[in-house]
Amino acid sequence: MSAGIAAYKTPDLVRKLGELGAQVQVILSKNADQFVAPLSLQAVSGHAVHSYAMTAESETGMGHIDLARWADAVLIAPATANMMARLCQGNADELLTTVCVATEAPIAVAPAMNQQMWQNAASEANIATLQSRGVHILGPDAGEQACGEVGPGRMLQPADIAQRVGALFQSTELTGKRVMITAGPTWEALDPVRGITNHSSGMMGYALAQAAIEAGAEVTLVSGPTHISKPEHATIINTVSALDMHSAVMSSIDEQDIFIAVAAVADYRPIQSADQKIKKNADEMTITMIKNPDILADVAGREKPPFCVGFAAETNNVIDYARGKLVRKKLDMIAANHVGGSETGFGTPDNAITLITEESVIELPRQAKTALARTLIAEITKAYKAQ
Ligand code: PMT
Repeated sequence: MSAGIAAYKTPDLVRKLGELGAQVQVILSKNADQFVAPLSLQAVSGHAVHSYAMTAESETGMGHIDLARWADAVLIAPATANMMARLCQGNADELLTTVCVATEAPIAVAPAMNQQMWQNAASEANIATLQSRGVHILGPDAGEQACGEVGPGRMLQPADIAQRVGALFQSTELTGKRVMITAGPTWEALDPVRGITNHSSGMMGYALAQAAIEAGAEVTLVSGPTHISKPEHATIINTVSALDMHSAVMSSIDEQDIFIAVAAVADYRPIQSADQKIKKNADEMTITMIKNPDILADVAGREKPPFCVGFAAETNNVIDYARGKLVRKKLDMIAANHVGGSETGFGTPDNAITLITEESVIELPRQAKTALARTLIAEITKAYKAQ
């Protein structure tokens, strides 16, 4: 980030990028710390903040070349008129500009300046030069400015910048393909107010839906009852019970190219659901359960099944049980998910997976579900295309 008044928005920007699954390291340009406290940026990014100077001390840690290699994208927000002029010249006189010269990653800038400065002929020429070199120019917005003037030059809102940076990673690998994903828990009613369910939040399935959308797929998300926001640009089918989810999936499964079953579907449901609230009349109560249909096995068992990916939530013998499900349910791939701990699995922002096919085993260590989902979609796409 460079030294502009819009720098006060950067902690929120770092947080928004993190929500999209990004790891963020912050480099301050000279004087940027006059506008926002480095400690705030350290707290939200989870990394020490790099200052502008290239000292012997800073170069013994993650030096400019390591940072340039580490980044998948470099974003300068806010980018002042001066910073953009210096980028045009290829200056390498402080850490941020040096990283920009040294990196092979895409560079994006979010300009923020007075409207007259933005419309100055030198600024316009600099923007044109940066664009011609492939630098992504995000914004600016127009409106009332910190100086009291009105016009173009306001930095975009953090959510908008984060979404545009995310779009830099969008691929077309699944363009023209239809992907159906089940997610979340199911609810098996005992009576109108009680039911049997589990702790699935929907996060893993929704993250996969978002990653498939980013890869260009047309996504249908069949969701159990959740409390998280639905991904935009997916067709959402809300369901409650396993039977609901089964019929929602079956109604359009023949149009799908890939099916990913992430939902934690109840294996059994009460054989009867009472019409009225069950009264507390007896000391003991027995609930008779009946097996639910296995949605994934029914999809994989079709005459012309889509490419089928299952998840296996296990507390022990994770890999063996997952392999058993891969074979028994006739799947193309299964994600073995160790559950029961507090850091990964049900209801946690992070997850860790072992991705198993007949020929390969890939370990995907603990990371944000959003980041994990992107890797999973890339692996699923590779295997789908190789079949
Ligand atoms: O939603 P989150 O909080 O983010 O948590 C994610 C998760 C832990 C729920 C997810 O990562 C996960 O592991 N999902 C699978 C949960 C599960 O029910 O696993 P299972 O081993 O019981 O089922 C095996 C596979 O068959 C699963 O793909 C499941 O969707 C499918 N299945 C199971 C039973 C059934 N009746 N129909 C099915 O389709």
